[in-house]
Amino acid sequence: MPAAAVGKSLRAAAVLSVAVLSVLVCLLLGSVQQLGGGRQDLLDEELASLRAALSDQLAQRRREILPLLSPGRVEEPFSTWDSNLWGELTGGGAPLGCGALRDMRPLEVLGSGYTKLVVKVTLAGGEPAALKVVNEHGIDMAKCVEGFKDPLGCRQLVSSKLSKEVVLLHRLRHPNVIELRGHCAGDSEGRVTAILEQGNPLQMLQLLQSPWEDRFRVCLDLVRLLHFLSRSPLGSVALLDFQPRQFVMVSGELKLTDLDDASTAATPCRRDADCSLQFPHRNFTLACSPRGLCEGLNEKMNIYNAYRYFFTYLLPHQAPPGLTHLVEHIMNATGELKADINQTLDAFEHILRLYQSGLHLDKLPTSVLRDYNVMRGMTTSGDAEYRCWPSYSQQGCVLSVHGAKEAAHICNSHSQCTSFTLTGQKTWTGRPLATFRSNFSLLVPDETSEVYVKKSTAVLLR
Ligand SMILES: Nc1ncnc2c1ncn2[C@@H]1O[C@H](COP(=O)(O)OP(=O)(O)OP(=O)(O)O)[C@@H](O)[C@H]1O
Ligand SMILES: *[C@@H]1O[C@H](CO)[C@@H](O)[C@H](O)[C@H]1NC(C)=O
Ligand SMILES: *[C@@H]1O[C@H](CO)[C@@H](O)[C@H](O)[C@H]1NC(C)=O
Ligand SMILES: *[C@@H]1O[C@H](CO)[C@@H](O)[C@H](O)[C@H]1NC(C)=O
Ligand SMILES: *[C@@H]1O[C@H](CO)[C@@H](O)[C@H](O)[C@H]1NC(C)=O
Repeated sequence: MPAAAVGKSLRAAAVLSVAVLSVLVCLLLGSVQQLGGGRQDLLDEELASLRAALSDQLAQRRREILPLLSPGRVEEPFSTWDSNLWGELTGGGAPLGCGALRDMRPLEVLGSGYTKLVVKVTLAGGEPAALKVVNEHGIDMAKCVEGFKDPLGCRQLVSSKLSKEVVLLHRLRHPNVIELRGHCAGDSEGRVTAILEQGNPLQMLQLLQSPWEDRFRVCLDLVRLLHFLSRSPLGSVALLDFQPRQFVMVSGELKLTDLDDASTAATPCRRDADCSLQFPHRNFTLACSPRGLCEGLNEKMNIYNAYRYFFTYLLPHQAPPGLTHLVEHIMNATGELKADINQTLDAFEHILRLYQSGLHLDKLPTSVLRDYNVMRGMTTSGDAEYRCWPSYSQQGCVLSVHGAKEAAHICNSHSQCTSFTLTGQKTWTGRPLATFRSNFSLLVPDETSEVYVKKSTAVLLR
């Protein structure tokens, strides 16, 4: 590790331990309330007007949450919604509540942002979960306290973002939205805790070095999510803050975790010019519908963000040769906002079907297999491995293939390759993994594997 990286990870470790400590203090020991030192110095009048401004903001936040609750609740006073939320929102099932947090063990900080802190815990029952709480040391809190000099009121204000997220996570359940397992709210200090399925922060750098198949999966998951969001139970939802850090991975699947910047608002307009979408390097003008709303603005905003934050980095690079024209078509259609989300999803699912069925490999000659001797029910040991990229294994060359034909084709294209094994392991698309090597010393029985040895080298091996 270079010195800079060591310093960085040491610093990260230090930040982590400080954060873990503060979570422990906050969650387990209750609040340590600090009043701002300058508070006494402020004139009563000034304080009163700050307090009024803060409660205005709080009321405004609550008005934003109301329409997200089930229809029919809108007329009821807000003060009761929190304690009744689960009763209102969950028809059956037993969501976790405050009780689930009683004997939980905090393990590590998973991530933090302007507003929230996420901690990995083991719940009383022994199951792992991620807890989202207000980030007491975050920028949101700091700014609020600076402006309003009221830590308690500010925690309530910042908590209202988390409350909004809890409601959204509940109303927008989908395989590509992090699962809300429960929540705990309503203590006197206005603390809110969301109990979530545990994921791992999306590592874009790591993903860039992953096989195309895994990068395609992330993009496909994203498109499935956007398809759902375009016609969600809350209408068409736009993700205003659309960045990789709003997502986590759960067993290879992409899931949205940060929903506090989701908007369900429609944009009113009188002419097309009112419906402009502005991005750093690109502007678009959409149509103003006869009803006076910008048509598909939320959907289009999401598609372009998916293009600029995800597709451009993850999709074209190393796409399988038979699929590159389809990938390029998607890149162009989304980068120019020529396709809606339905068409985009269709295009992705089409690529997936071709890839799984191996139809994109039609042009590979079957004759490539004639150069190999096959031994079924066997695997090898004492391998001389070589590396290739992007491999599923760090040590050797492990790639996903459609079958023996594609593997033989790949082996022929690697100068070191003299044999390969089709293993019983499959990738998420169902394609088998193949191990390529330059030599091996032994054949061993293994029902799930097949070994293919190049005829020209088989002689050498004897
Ligand atoms: N369920 C989870 N499992 C693992 N990590 C998570 C989970 N949820 C969130 N995280 C991590 O915690 C970080 C902070 O969460 P979140 O994005 O909700 O907070 P935020 O304050 O709104 O952040 P930002 O300032 O980026 O908007 C995320 O970037 C993500 O890496
Ligand atoms: C997009 O529109 C804004 C505001 O009209 C303008 O300032 C900017 O230069 C435009 N950007 C591009 C890339 O056209
Ligand atoms: C889409 O294709 C057109 C025509 O080939 C090209 O001019 C344009 O730059 C492409 N746009 C994107 C975003 O790739
Ligand atoms: C998209 O597909 C949904 C069904 O999945 C359909 O109801 C909707 O009308 C389609 N939208 C467009 C713009 O074609
Ligand atoms: C392959 O391995 C065998 C057994 O370990 C060895 O005898 C042979 O020399 C190796 N062949 C090459 C080309 O390295």
